Amino acid sequence: MNKNFFVSVADLSKDDILRLMRKAESFEKEPNRNILAGKVCATLFFEPSTRTRLSFETAVNRLGGKVIGFSDAATTSSSKGETLKDTIKMVSNYADLIIMRHHLEGAARYAAEITDVPIINAGDGANQHPSQTMLDLYSVYKTQGRLENLVITMVGDLKYGRTVHSLIVGMSHFKPHFKFIAPEELRLPDIYRQFMDEHNLPYEEYVDFSEEVINQSDILYMTRVQRERFTDLMEYEKVKNVYILKNCMLAESKPNLRILHPLPRVNEIAYDVDDNPKAYYFEQAKNGVYARQAIISDVLGVG
Ligand code: CP
Repeated sequence: MNKNFFVSVADLSKDDILRLMRKAESFEKEPNRNILAGKVCATLFFEPSTRTRLSFETAVNRLGGKVIGFSDAATTSSSKGETLKDTIKMVSNYADLIIMRHHLEGAARYAAEITDVPIINAGDGANQHPSQTMLDLYSVYKTQGRLENLVITMVGDLKYGRTVHSLIVGMSHFKPHFKFIAPEELRLPDIYRQFMDEHNLPYEEYVDFSEEVINQSDILYMTRVQRERFTDLMEYEKVKNVYILKNCMLAESKPNLRILHPLPRVNEIAYDVDDNPKAYYFEQAKNGVYARQAIISDVLGVG
């Protein structure tokens, strides 16, 4: 792993991932440490966020660092026409670390090329969400006791869902068997099917969200249909409620099944699932603090 940025899961080796898992475990045991004393971390969110920004900021605060940044680019000089390049150069004058979410695919990689300040990708368009993958992997590990040889079923917006794209790459080191459930319009992009073929990863694709598939799964990874990525909202209307997980659909599921969702949810998980012990999405979001503490400490080479 290049210690100076955290842009894509594809940059991480299996050893990198396992090291980050061990670090996350350690931060969960002891989240308050003063290892970022004197460091300023910038959170630049050009796209909306609740969990990613607040868990990164919690991670920095718990590690003794200071946070600057913005959660709404409309309040910054980018609304006056300042380029991303100039914004990154400016913030590099102020901060020791830049955590950035942007609507353009490749924006974090671009930022990493124009500054020596470490960049963490907090989501770039429909491309990647690598810090989400670290908390997803940590959640899988915590709930299953292992990462290897699991049946991972991903449901919903597999076309635009960047968390799905990152998780496929992250899990690829651990011999997963994937099942994908999506309508034709939101099918997994070709490049990820090619990736799985190249890595000899077995997978099946379905259109029906059936209990038969749920019952074979160790992890059921639900996703929201990404309204903000559609250019034609009529197309969004057609697919927005295509799959809704209801508690009754889990009656025959495996005892170890856990339901993950990167959140926010809209309609794709009924509220009656929340009380099922197999629902893990709120704990998953909490794991984000520890996974992000691990990433920050690794990128900055502290702790
Ligand atoms: N999972 C996730 O990225 O959530 P936010 O958009 O709220 O950060």
